[in-house]
Amino acid sequence: MFDLVIKNANLPDGRHGIDIAVNDGRIVEVDPTSPPFGDETIDATGCLVSPPFVDPHFHMDATLSLGLPRLNESGTLLEGIALWGELKPHLTVEAIKQRAHALTKWSIAKGVLAIRSHVDVCDDRLLAVEALLEIRQEIAPWIDLQLVAFPQDGYLRSPTAAANLKRALDMGVDVVGGIPHFERTMADGAASVTALCEIAARRGLLVDMHCDETDDSMSRHIETLIYETQRLGLQGRVAGSHLTSMHSMDNYYVSKLLPLMAEADVTAIPNPLINATIQGRHDTYPKRRGLTRVKEMTEQGINVALGHDCVMDPWYSLGSHDMLEVAHMAVHTGHMTGVGQMQAMFKAVTENSAKVMHLDGYGLEPGCNADMVILQARDPIDAIRLKPARLFVIRRGKVISRTAPVAALLDLNDEHHTVTFQN
Ligand code: FE2
Repeated sequence: MFDLVIKNANLPDGRHGIDIAVNDGRIVEVDPTSPPFGDETIDATGCLVSPPFVDPHFHMDATLSLGLPRLNESGTLLEGIALWGELKPHLTVEAIKQRAHALTKWSIAKGVLAIRSHVDVCDDRLLAVEALLEIRQEIAPWIDLQLVAFPQDGYLRSPTAAANLKRALDMGVDVVGGIPHFERTMADGAASVTALCEIAARRGLLVDMHCDETDDSMSRHIETLIYETQRLGLQGRVAGSHLTSMHSMDNYYVSKLLPLMAEADVTAIPNPLINATIQGRHDTYPKRRGLTRVKEMTEQGINVALGHDCVMDPWYSLGSHDMLEVAHMAVHTGHMTGVGQMQAMFKAVTENSAKVMHLDGYGLEPGCNADMVILQARDPIDAIRLKPARLFVIRRGKVISRTAPVAALLDLNDEHHTVTFQN
C-alpha cells in the first residue's frame, strides 16, 4: 500500500502505461511488477506525467509591476532598465512580496516548482533582497527558489554595487550574478566577469551572469566567462544567460567558441520570449530574431536551459509563467521543429534547467522527490503544441493544484487525430 499511485502514465522518454508509486514524499517504484494500490490513486491514462517545470531565469522582484510608473514605449532593454530605475525608489518590501506571492500562485498552477530568480542589488536599501529571502522561505513547501545577486546597473559601473553584492551574499543569496555588457567598456566587462567568478570560487557558490544580452556581435564576454570557469575550476557551476550577441557573431569565431564552452561545461540560458521581443530593435529589415544559437549548442552537447525571464514587468508586458510558452517560442525562433529538436526543448524547461540549478532529487526515478505534473497531452511535443491543462501538480506526493481537462481537446487527443512519434 502506497500514499499515492499514478496509473498508466506516459513518460517524457516515450515509455507508456507506467505506474508510479509514492511513499513519504518520494517516488519508491516506477513500473512495479505487481499492481500497486494507494491511499490516493490517479488514473493518468493517455496523459504525460513529467517532472515539474523549472524556470532557471526569472526576475521576481520586478514581476507584475507592469505600468509602474509607466510603460516601456520603445520595447528596448535599455528603456526597460531605465524604467526599472524609476520604479526602484518607490519599492517596498510589502509590495514586492505581494506581487511575488501572486506570481507564484500562477507558477504552481502551471507546474513550475523550481525557480532561479535574479534579485537586483543596486538599490542600497536591498529591499528586494530582503523581500525575496522571506519569499524563498515562505514558498519553500511548494517551490524551490534560488536567488542570484544581480548588479543590474553594473558591478563596476554602479558605485555601490560591489559592496551591495557582498552584503546580499552575506544575507544568504545563493548565486553570483553579473551584467558585463552593461559595464562602461569591454575591458570593464571582462574585469567584472573575473572579479565575480573569483568571488564565487572563494565562497563555493554557483555563477549565473546576464552575458552579452545585446545585438552587438563584438560583445564576447562569454569568452571570458568560459576562460574564468576553466581557470578557477568552476566547471559545471557556471551559466551564461541570454548570450544573444552570439546570434550575430562571425561563424568562424563561434566554431572556436562552442567547443570551449562544452569543455568548460558552461550552461547556456536563453530566454526566447524576451530575446525575440527585445533584440533586433535597432534593425530595419531584415530583422534579427535575437535568440542565441540553441540548435548548434544542443548539437555540441552544451547544456541549454530555457528561462521565462519576465512576466508583466518593464521588459515584457505578457506572460503567465508557463514554461511551455517558452519552449514553444524556442522551437519557432530557433528553427527547432525536428522531432528530436522539439523533444530537446521540452528537456530545456525540465531536466536541463534542474541541472543548472543543481536541484537534488529531481526526476522520475525511484528515490527522487515525488514532484510531478500530469498534463492533458500525450507526449512532450503534444505538450509544446497544445500548452495544455496541468491536470494535477504534485509536490512531495501531495496534489497542490488541479485544473479541469479542456473538453474540446479530448477528441483531439484521440488516437485517430494525433500523430504518434516514435522515440
Ligand atoms: Fe534577466
